[in-house]
Amino acid sequence: MRLFLTRRLPGDGFARLSQQREIDVDVWEGDFPPPHDALLARVAGAHGLLCLITDRIDAEVLDRAGPQLRAVSQMAVGVDNIDVPACAARGIAVGHTPGVLTETTADLAFALLLAGARRVVEAARYVQEGRWQTWTPLLLAGRDVHGATLGIVGFGAIGQAVTRRATGFGMRVLYWSRTPKPEIAAAVGAEFRPLPTLLEQSDFVSLHVALTPETHHLIDARALARMPPHALLVNTARGPIVDETALIDALRAGRLGGAALDVVETEPISLANPLLQMENVIVLPHIGSAGVATRTRMADIAVANLLAGIRGEPLLHAFSLPPAR
Ligand code: DGY
Repeated sequence: MRLFLTRRLPGDGFARLSQQREIDVDVWEGDFPPPHDALLARVAGAHGLLCLITDRIDAEVLDRAGPQLRAVSQMAVGVDNIDVPACAARGIAVGHTPGVLTETTADLAFALLLAGARRVVEAARYVQEGRWQTWTPLLLAGRDVHGATLGIVGFGAIGQAVTRRATGFGMRVLYWSRTPKPEIAAAVGAEFRPLPTLLEQSDFVSLHVALTPETHHLIDARALARMPPHALLVNTARGPIVDETALIDALRAGRLGGAALDVVETEPISLANPLLQMENVIVLPHIGSAGVATRTRMADIAVANLLAGIRGEPLLHAFSLPPAR
């Protein structure tokens, strides 16, 4: 059987695959993702495909692979780069890596919240640029995190993990999700609010929904207008959940306190993007799950999913589409 991996993986997953006698493993060696035409060429004849969030796995890729393709295994929890209905229609299993990255991503969301609130990145830059002359009462003064209200948009595992951090810091936590989860919320100390109310009542808003057609631009101009002008928006989920043009407008007009973003609409961000010129904005290069142990574990799970998928066995973590509403 033939496998195509769109990148080298951390850990010993590649070695484990190569040891399987019945398997021939082809790996894209570059640090950059294979261009789409290279992906089309290399996937042809594969029984299994291991991919990253940077690879667009559409119906054309699936068709080029051929009818023997049994599994698409993504080394990430989010699968918005994969045409999941097209996989389902062809009987191709889709694997992903939930769970293992929950706490690591929640750590980064909270790091961004703290850094944005207390202007940590701006302050470090201030020192590096030789601008530190003296101590003044309001030098680089930010907002307190303790006692503030955090709105969690999307109350899955990562949203809940961020809630636990927030209550430890003495924050009040509101949450919104498609389906209210009263028991879990009571256990972690969060209160449900409809999304518009959550946006109006939160000093900090952290996004934790998956990117789907319903959540594309969930945070648009109207949503941003509901947030208090001092509020900070944190996004460690997916860039297109936020209408970036509307975000830039709100920040420029002083209608929003700041943004701390691990993800943006187009990745990698263009150096010409106005967000990079704003002192109250932090942009990171999509490193939410980037702990060495976590990324290694994600690779291991992706390999396990791939092997199970090509053998027709149940995946460790199969992605299935949420029920339509
Ligand atoms: C994911 O898993 O979806 C992250 O965005 C990449 O780790």
